[in-house]
Amino acid sequence: MRQLFSEPPFRSSASGPPTGGVEAIADAALAAIRTRGTYRHMRVLDGMQAPSMRVDGRDVLLFAGSNYLDLAAHPELADAAARAARDWGCAAGGSRLINGNLSLHEQLEAELANFLGVESALVFPTGYQANVGVIPALVGPGDAVVSDALVHASIIDGCRLSRAAVHVFEHGSVEALEARLADVAPQHRRTLLVLDGVYSMDGDVAPLPAMLAAARRHGALVLLDDAHGIGCLGAGGRGSAEALGVELRDVDVLVGTLGKALGSFGAFVAGPAGLRELLVNTARSFVFSCALAPPQVAAAQAALTLLAREPWRRVRLQANAARLRAALAARGIATAPSRTHIIPVRIGDNDRTMTVAEKLLARGFYAQGIRHPSVPDGTARLRLTVMATHEDAQIDALAVAVAEELGAAEARP
Ligand SMILES: Cc1ncc(COP(=O)(O)O)c(C=O)c1O
Repeated sequence: MRQLFSEPPFRSSASGPPTGGVEAIADAALAAIRTRGTYRHMRVLDGMQAPSMRVDGRDVLLFAGSNYLDLAAHPELADAAARAARDWGCAAGGSRLINGNLSLHEQLEAELANFLGVESALVFPTGYQANVGVIPALVGPGDAVVSDALVHASIIDGCRLSRAAVHVFEHGSVEALEARLADVAPQHRRTLLVLDGVYSMDGDVAPLPAMLAAARRHGALVLLDDAHGIGCLGAGGRGSAEALGVELRDVDVLVGTLGKALGSFGAFVAGPAGLRELLVNTARSFVFSCALAPPQVAAAQAALTLLAREPWRRVRLQANAARLRAALAARGIATAPSRTHIIPVRIGDNDRTMTVAEKLLARGFYAQGIRHPSVPDGTARLRLTVMATHEDAQIDALAVAVAEELGAAEARP
């Protein structure tokens, strides 16, 4: 099984420490990255995140990113953020435990807990920090983590920091999970199962009810990272658990982000009241980091209001996703295993993937090419994401362009 867990992402293959200062270190590492075909550069976008925007100086349709509900530039979020900047300032001015714990943070956390139907929530500056904070707070040396093979990098890093023994099972397989748990749980003091709700590079949904049942059978705790499900799935926008009929209070630990569908920035960990207290006291990425800035908190609060008032956004999002999957399928392009708004078109080869992405950009479609280490080696792909506000004609035009460019890429020797 190819695992994202197995390799450190950016390391020169040269043995021994490079000498000669930072430039020499960078040259050696970047040469190795170029040889692997995984060199990255950042595109420059202008203007507000929206279905159409300027990328590298060109007007294009945006089919990349995680602003799924098109809330990032919503006037109600912008107004809430501007008011908060005026009334509370642009920064919390310190960590929550020193001087940065504003009543605004506590309000947002109560609103999140209420929305999710759980006892408590704690806001973190990012989802990355949430995962690297919560996992070591729950498990350590002598404990075990049982992890799906395709969990997000921040979960992998949280596992590494925890120093618990990590056991990886085949992505999405309940049978493989069951076998791992039977093996691992009896040998450890405590076992934590870690899963994504919606897998960020494949768009498939974890079989949560069966996995939860397996965890319960073996006495394991469950951490669900639903960064890409919250706001997008479930009748009330509570994510993949709600969509699958699972009560969030039956999941031990939920991680969600505020910077994707919710159009703001930051993240949260939600669960029983004791979890919040434990994190406040032990999660290093919470304790030793500045609190979320007031404009971001207020924008997230405005997003929660919109989630409740405008269910059409998540309905349209999934309708748009279904339309794109169908339009690609009609042209012979597989998008399995996606069932959501994240739609992978697997190409395999790194260079071909980036060439197709480049050609699409030249035609006015920004679709991000994704390579290792974001996905397992040899599975490079276009990661297409739709938004609730894409129009049918825009989606259809993308499918035509992808099919033509893939055909063109096939035809090349
Ligand atoms: C599943 C998952 N968890 C966590 C994160 C990290 O969230 P943040 O961008 O807020 O650090 C991401 C970000 O892409 C993600 O996809």
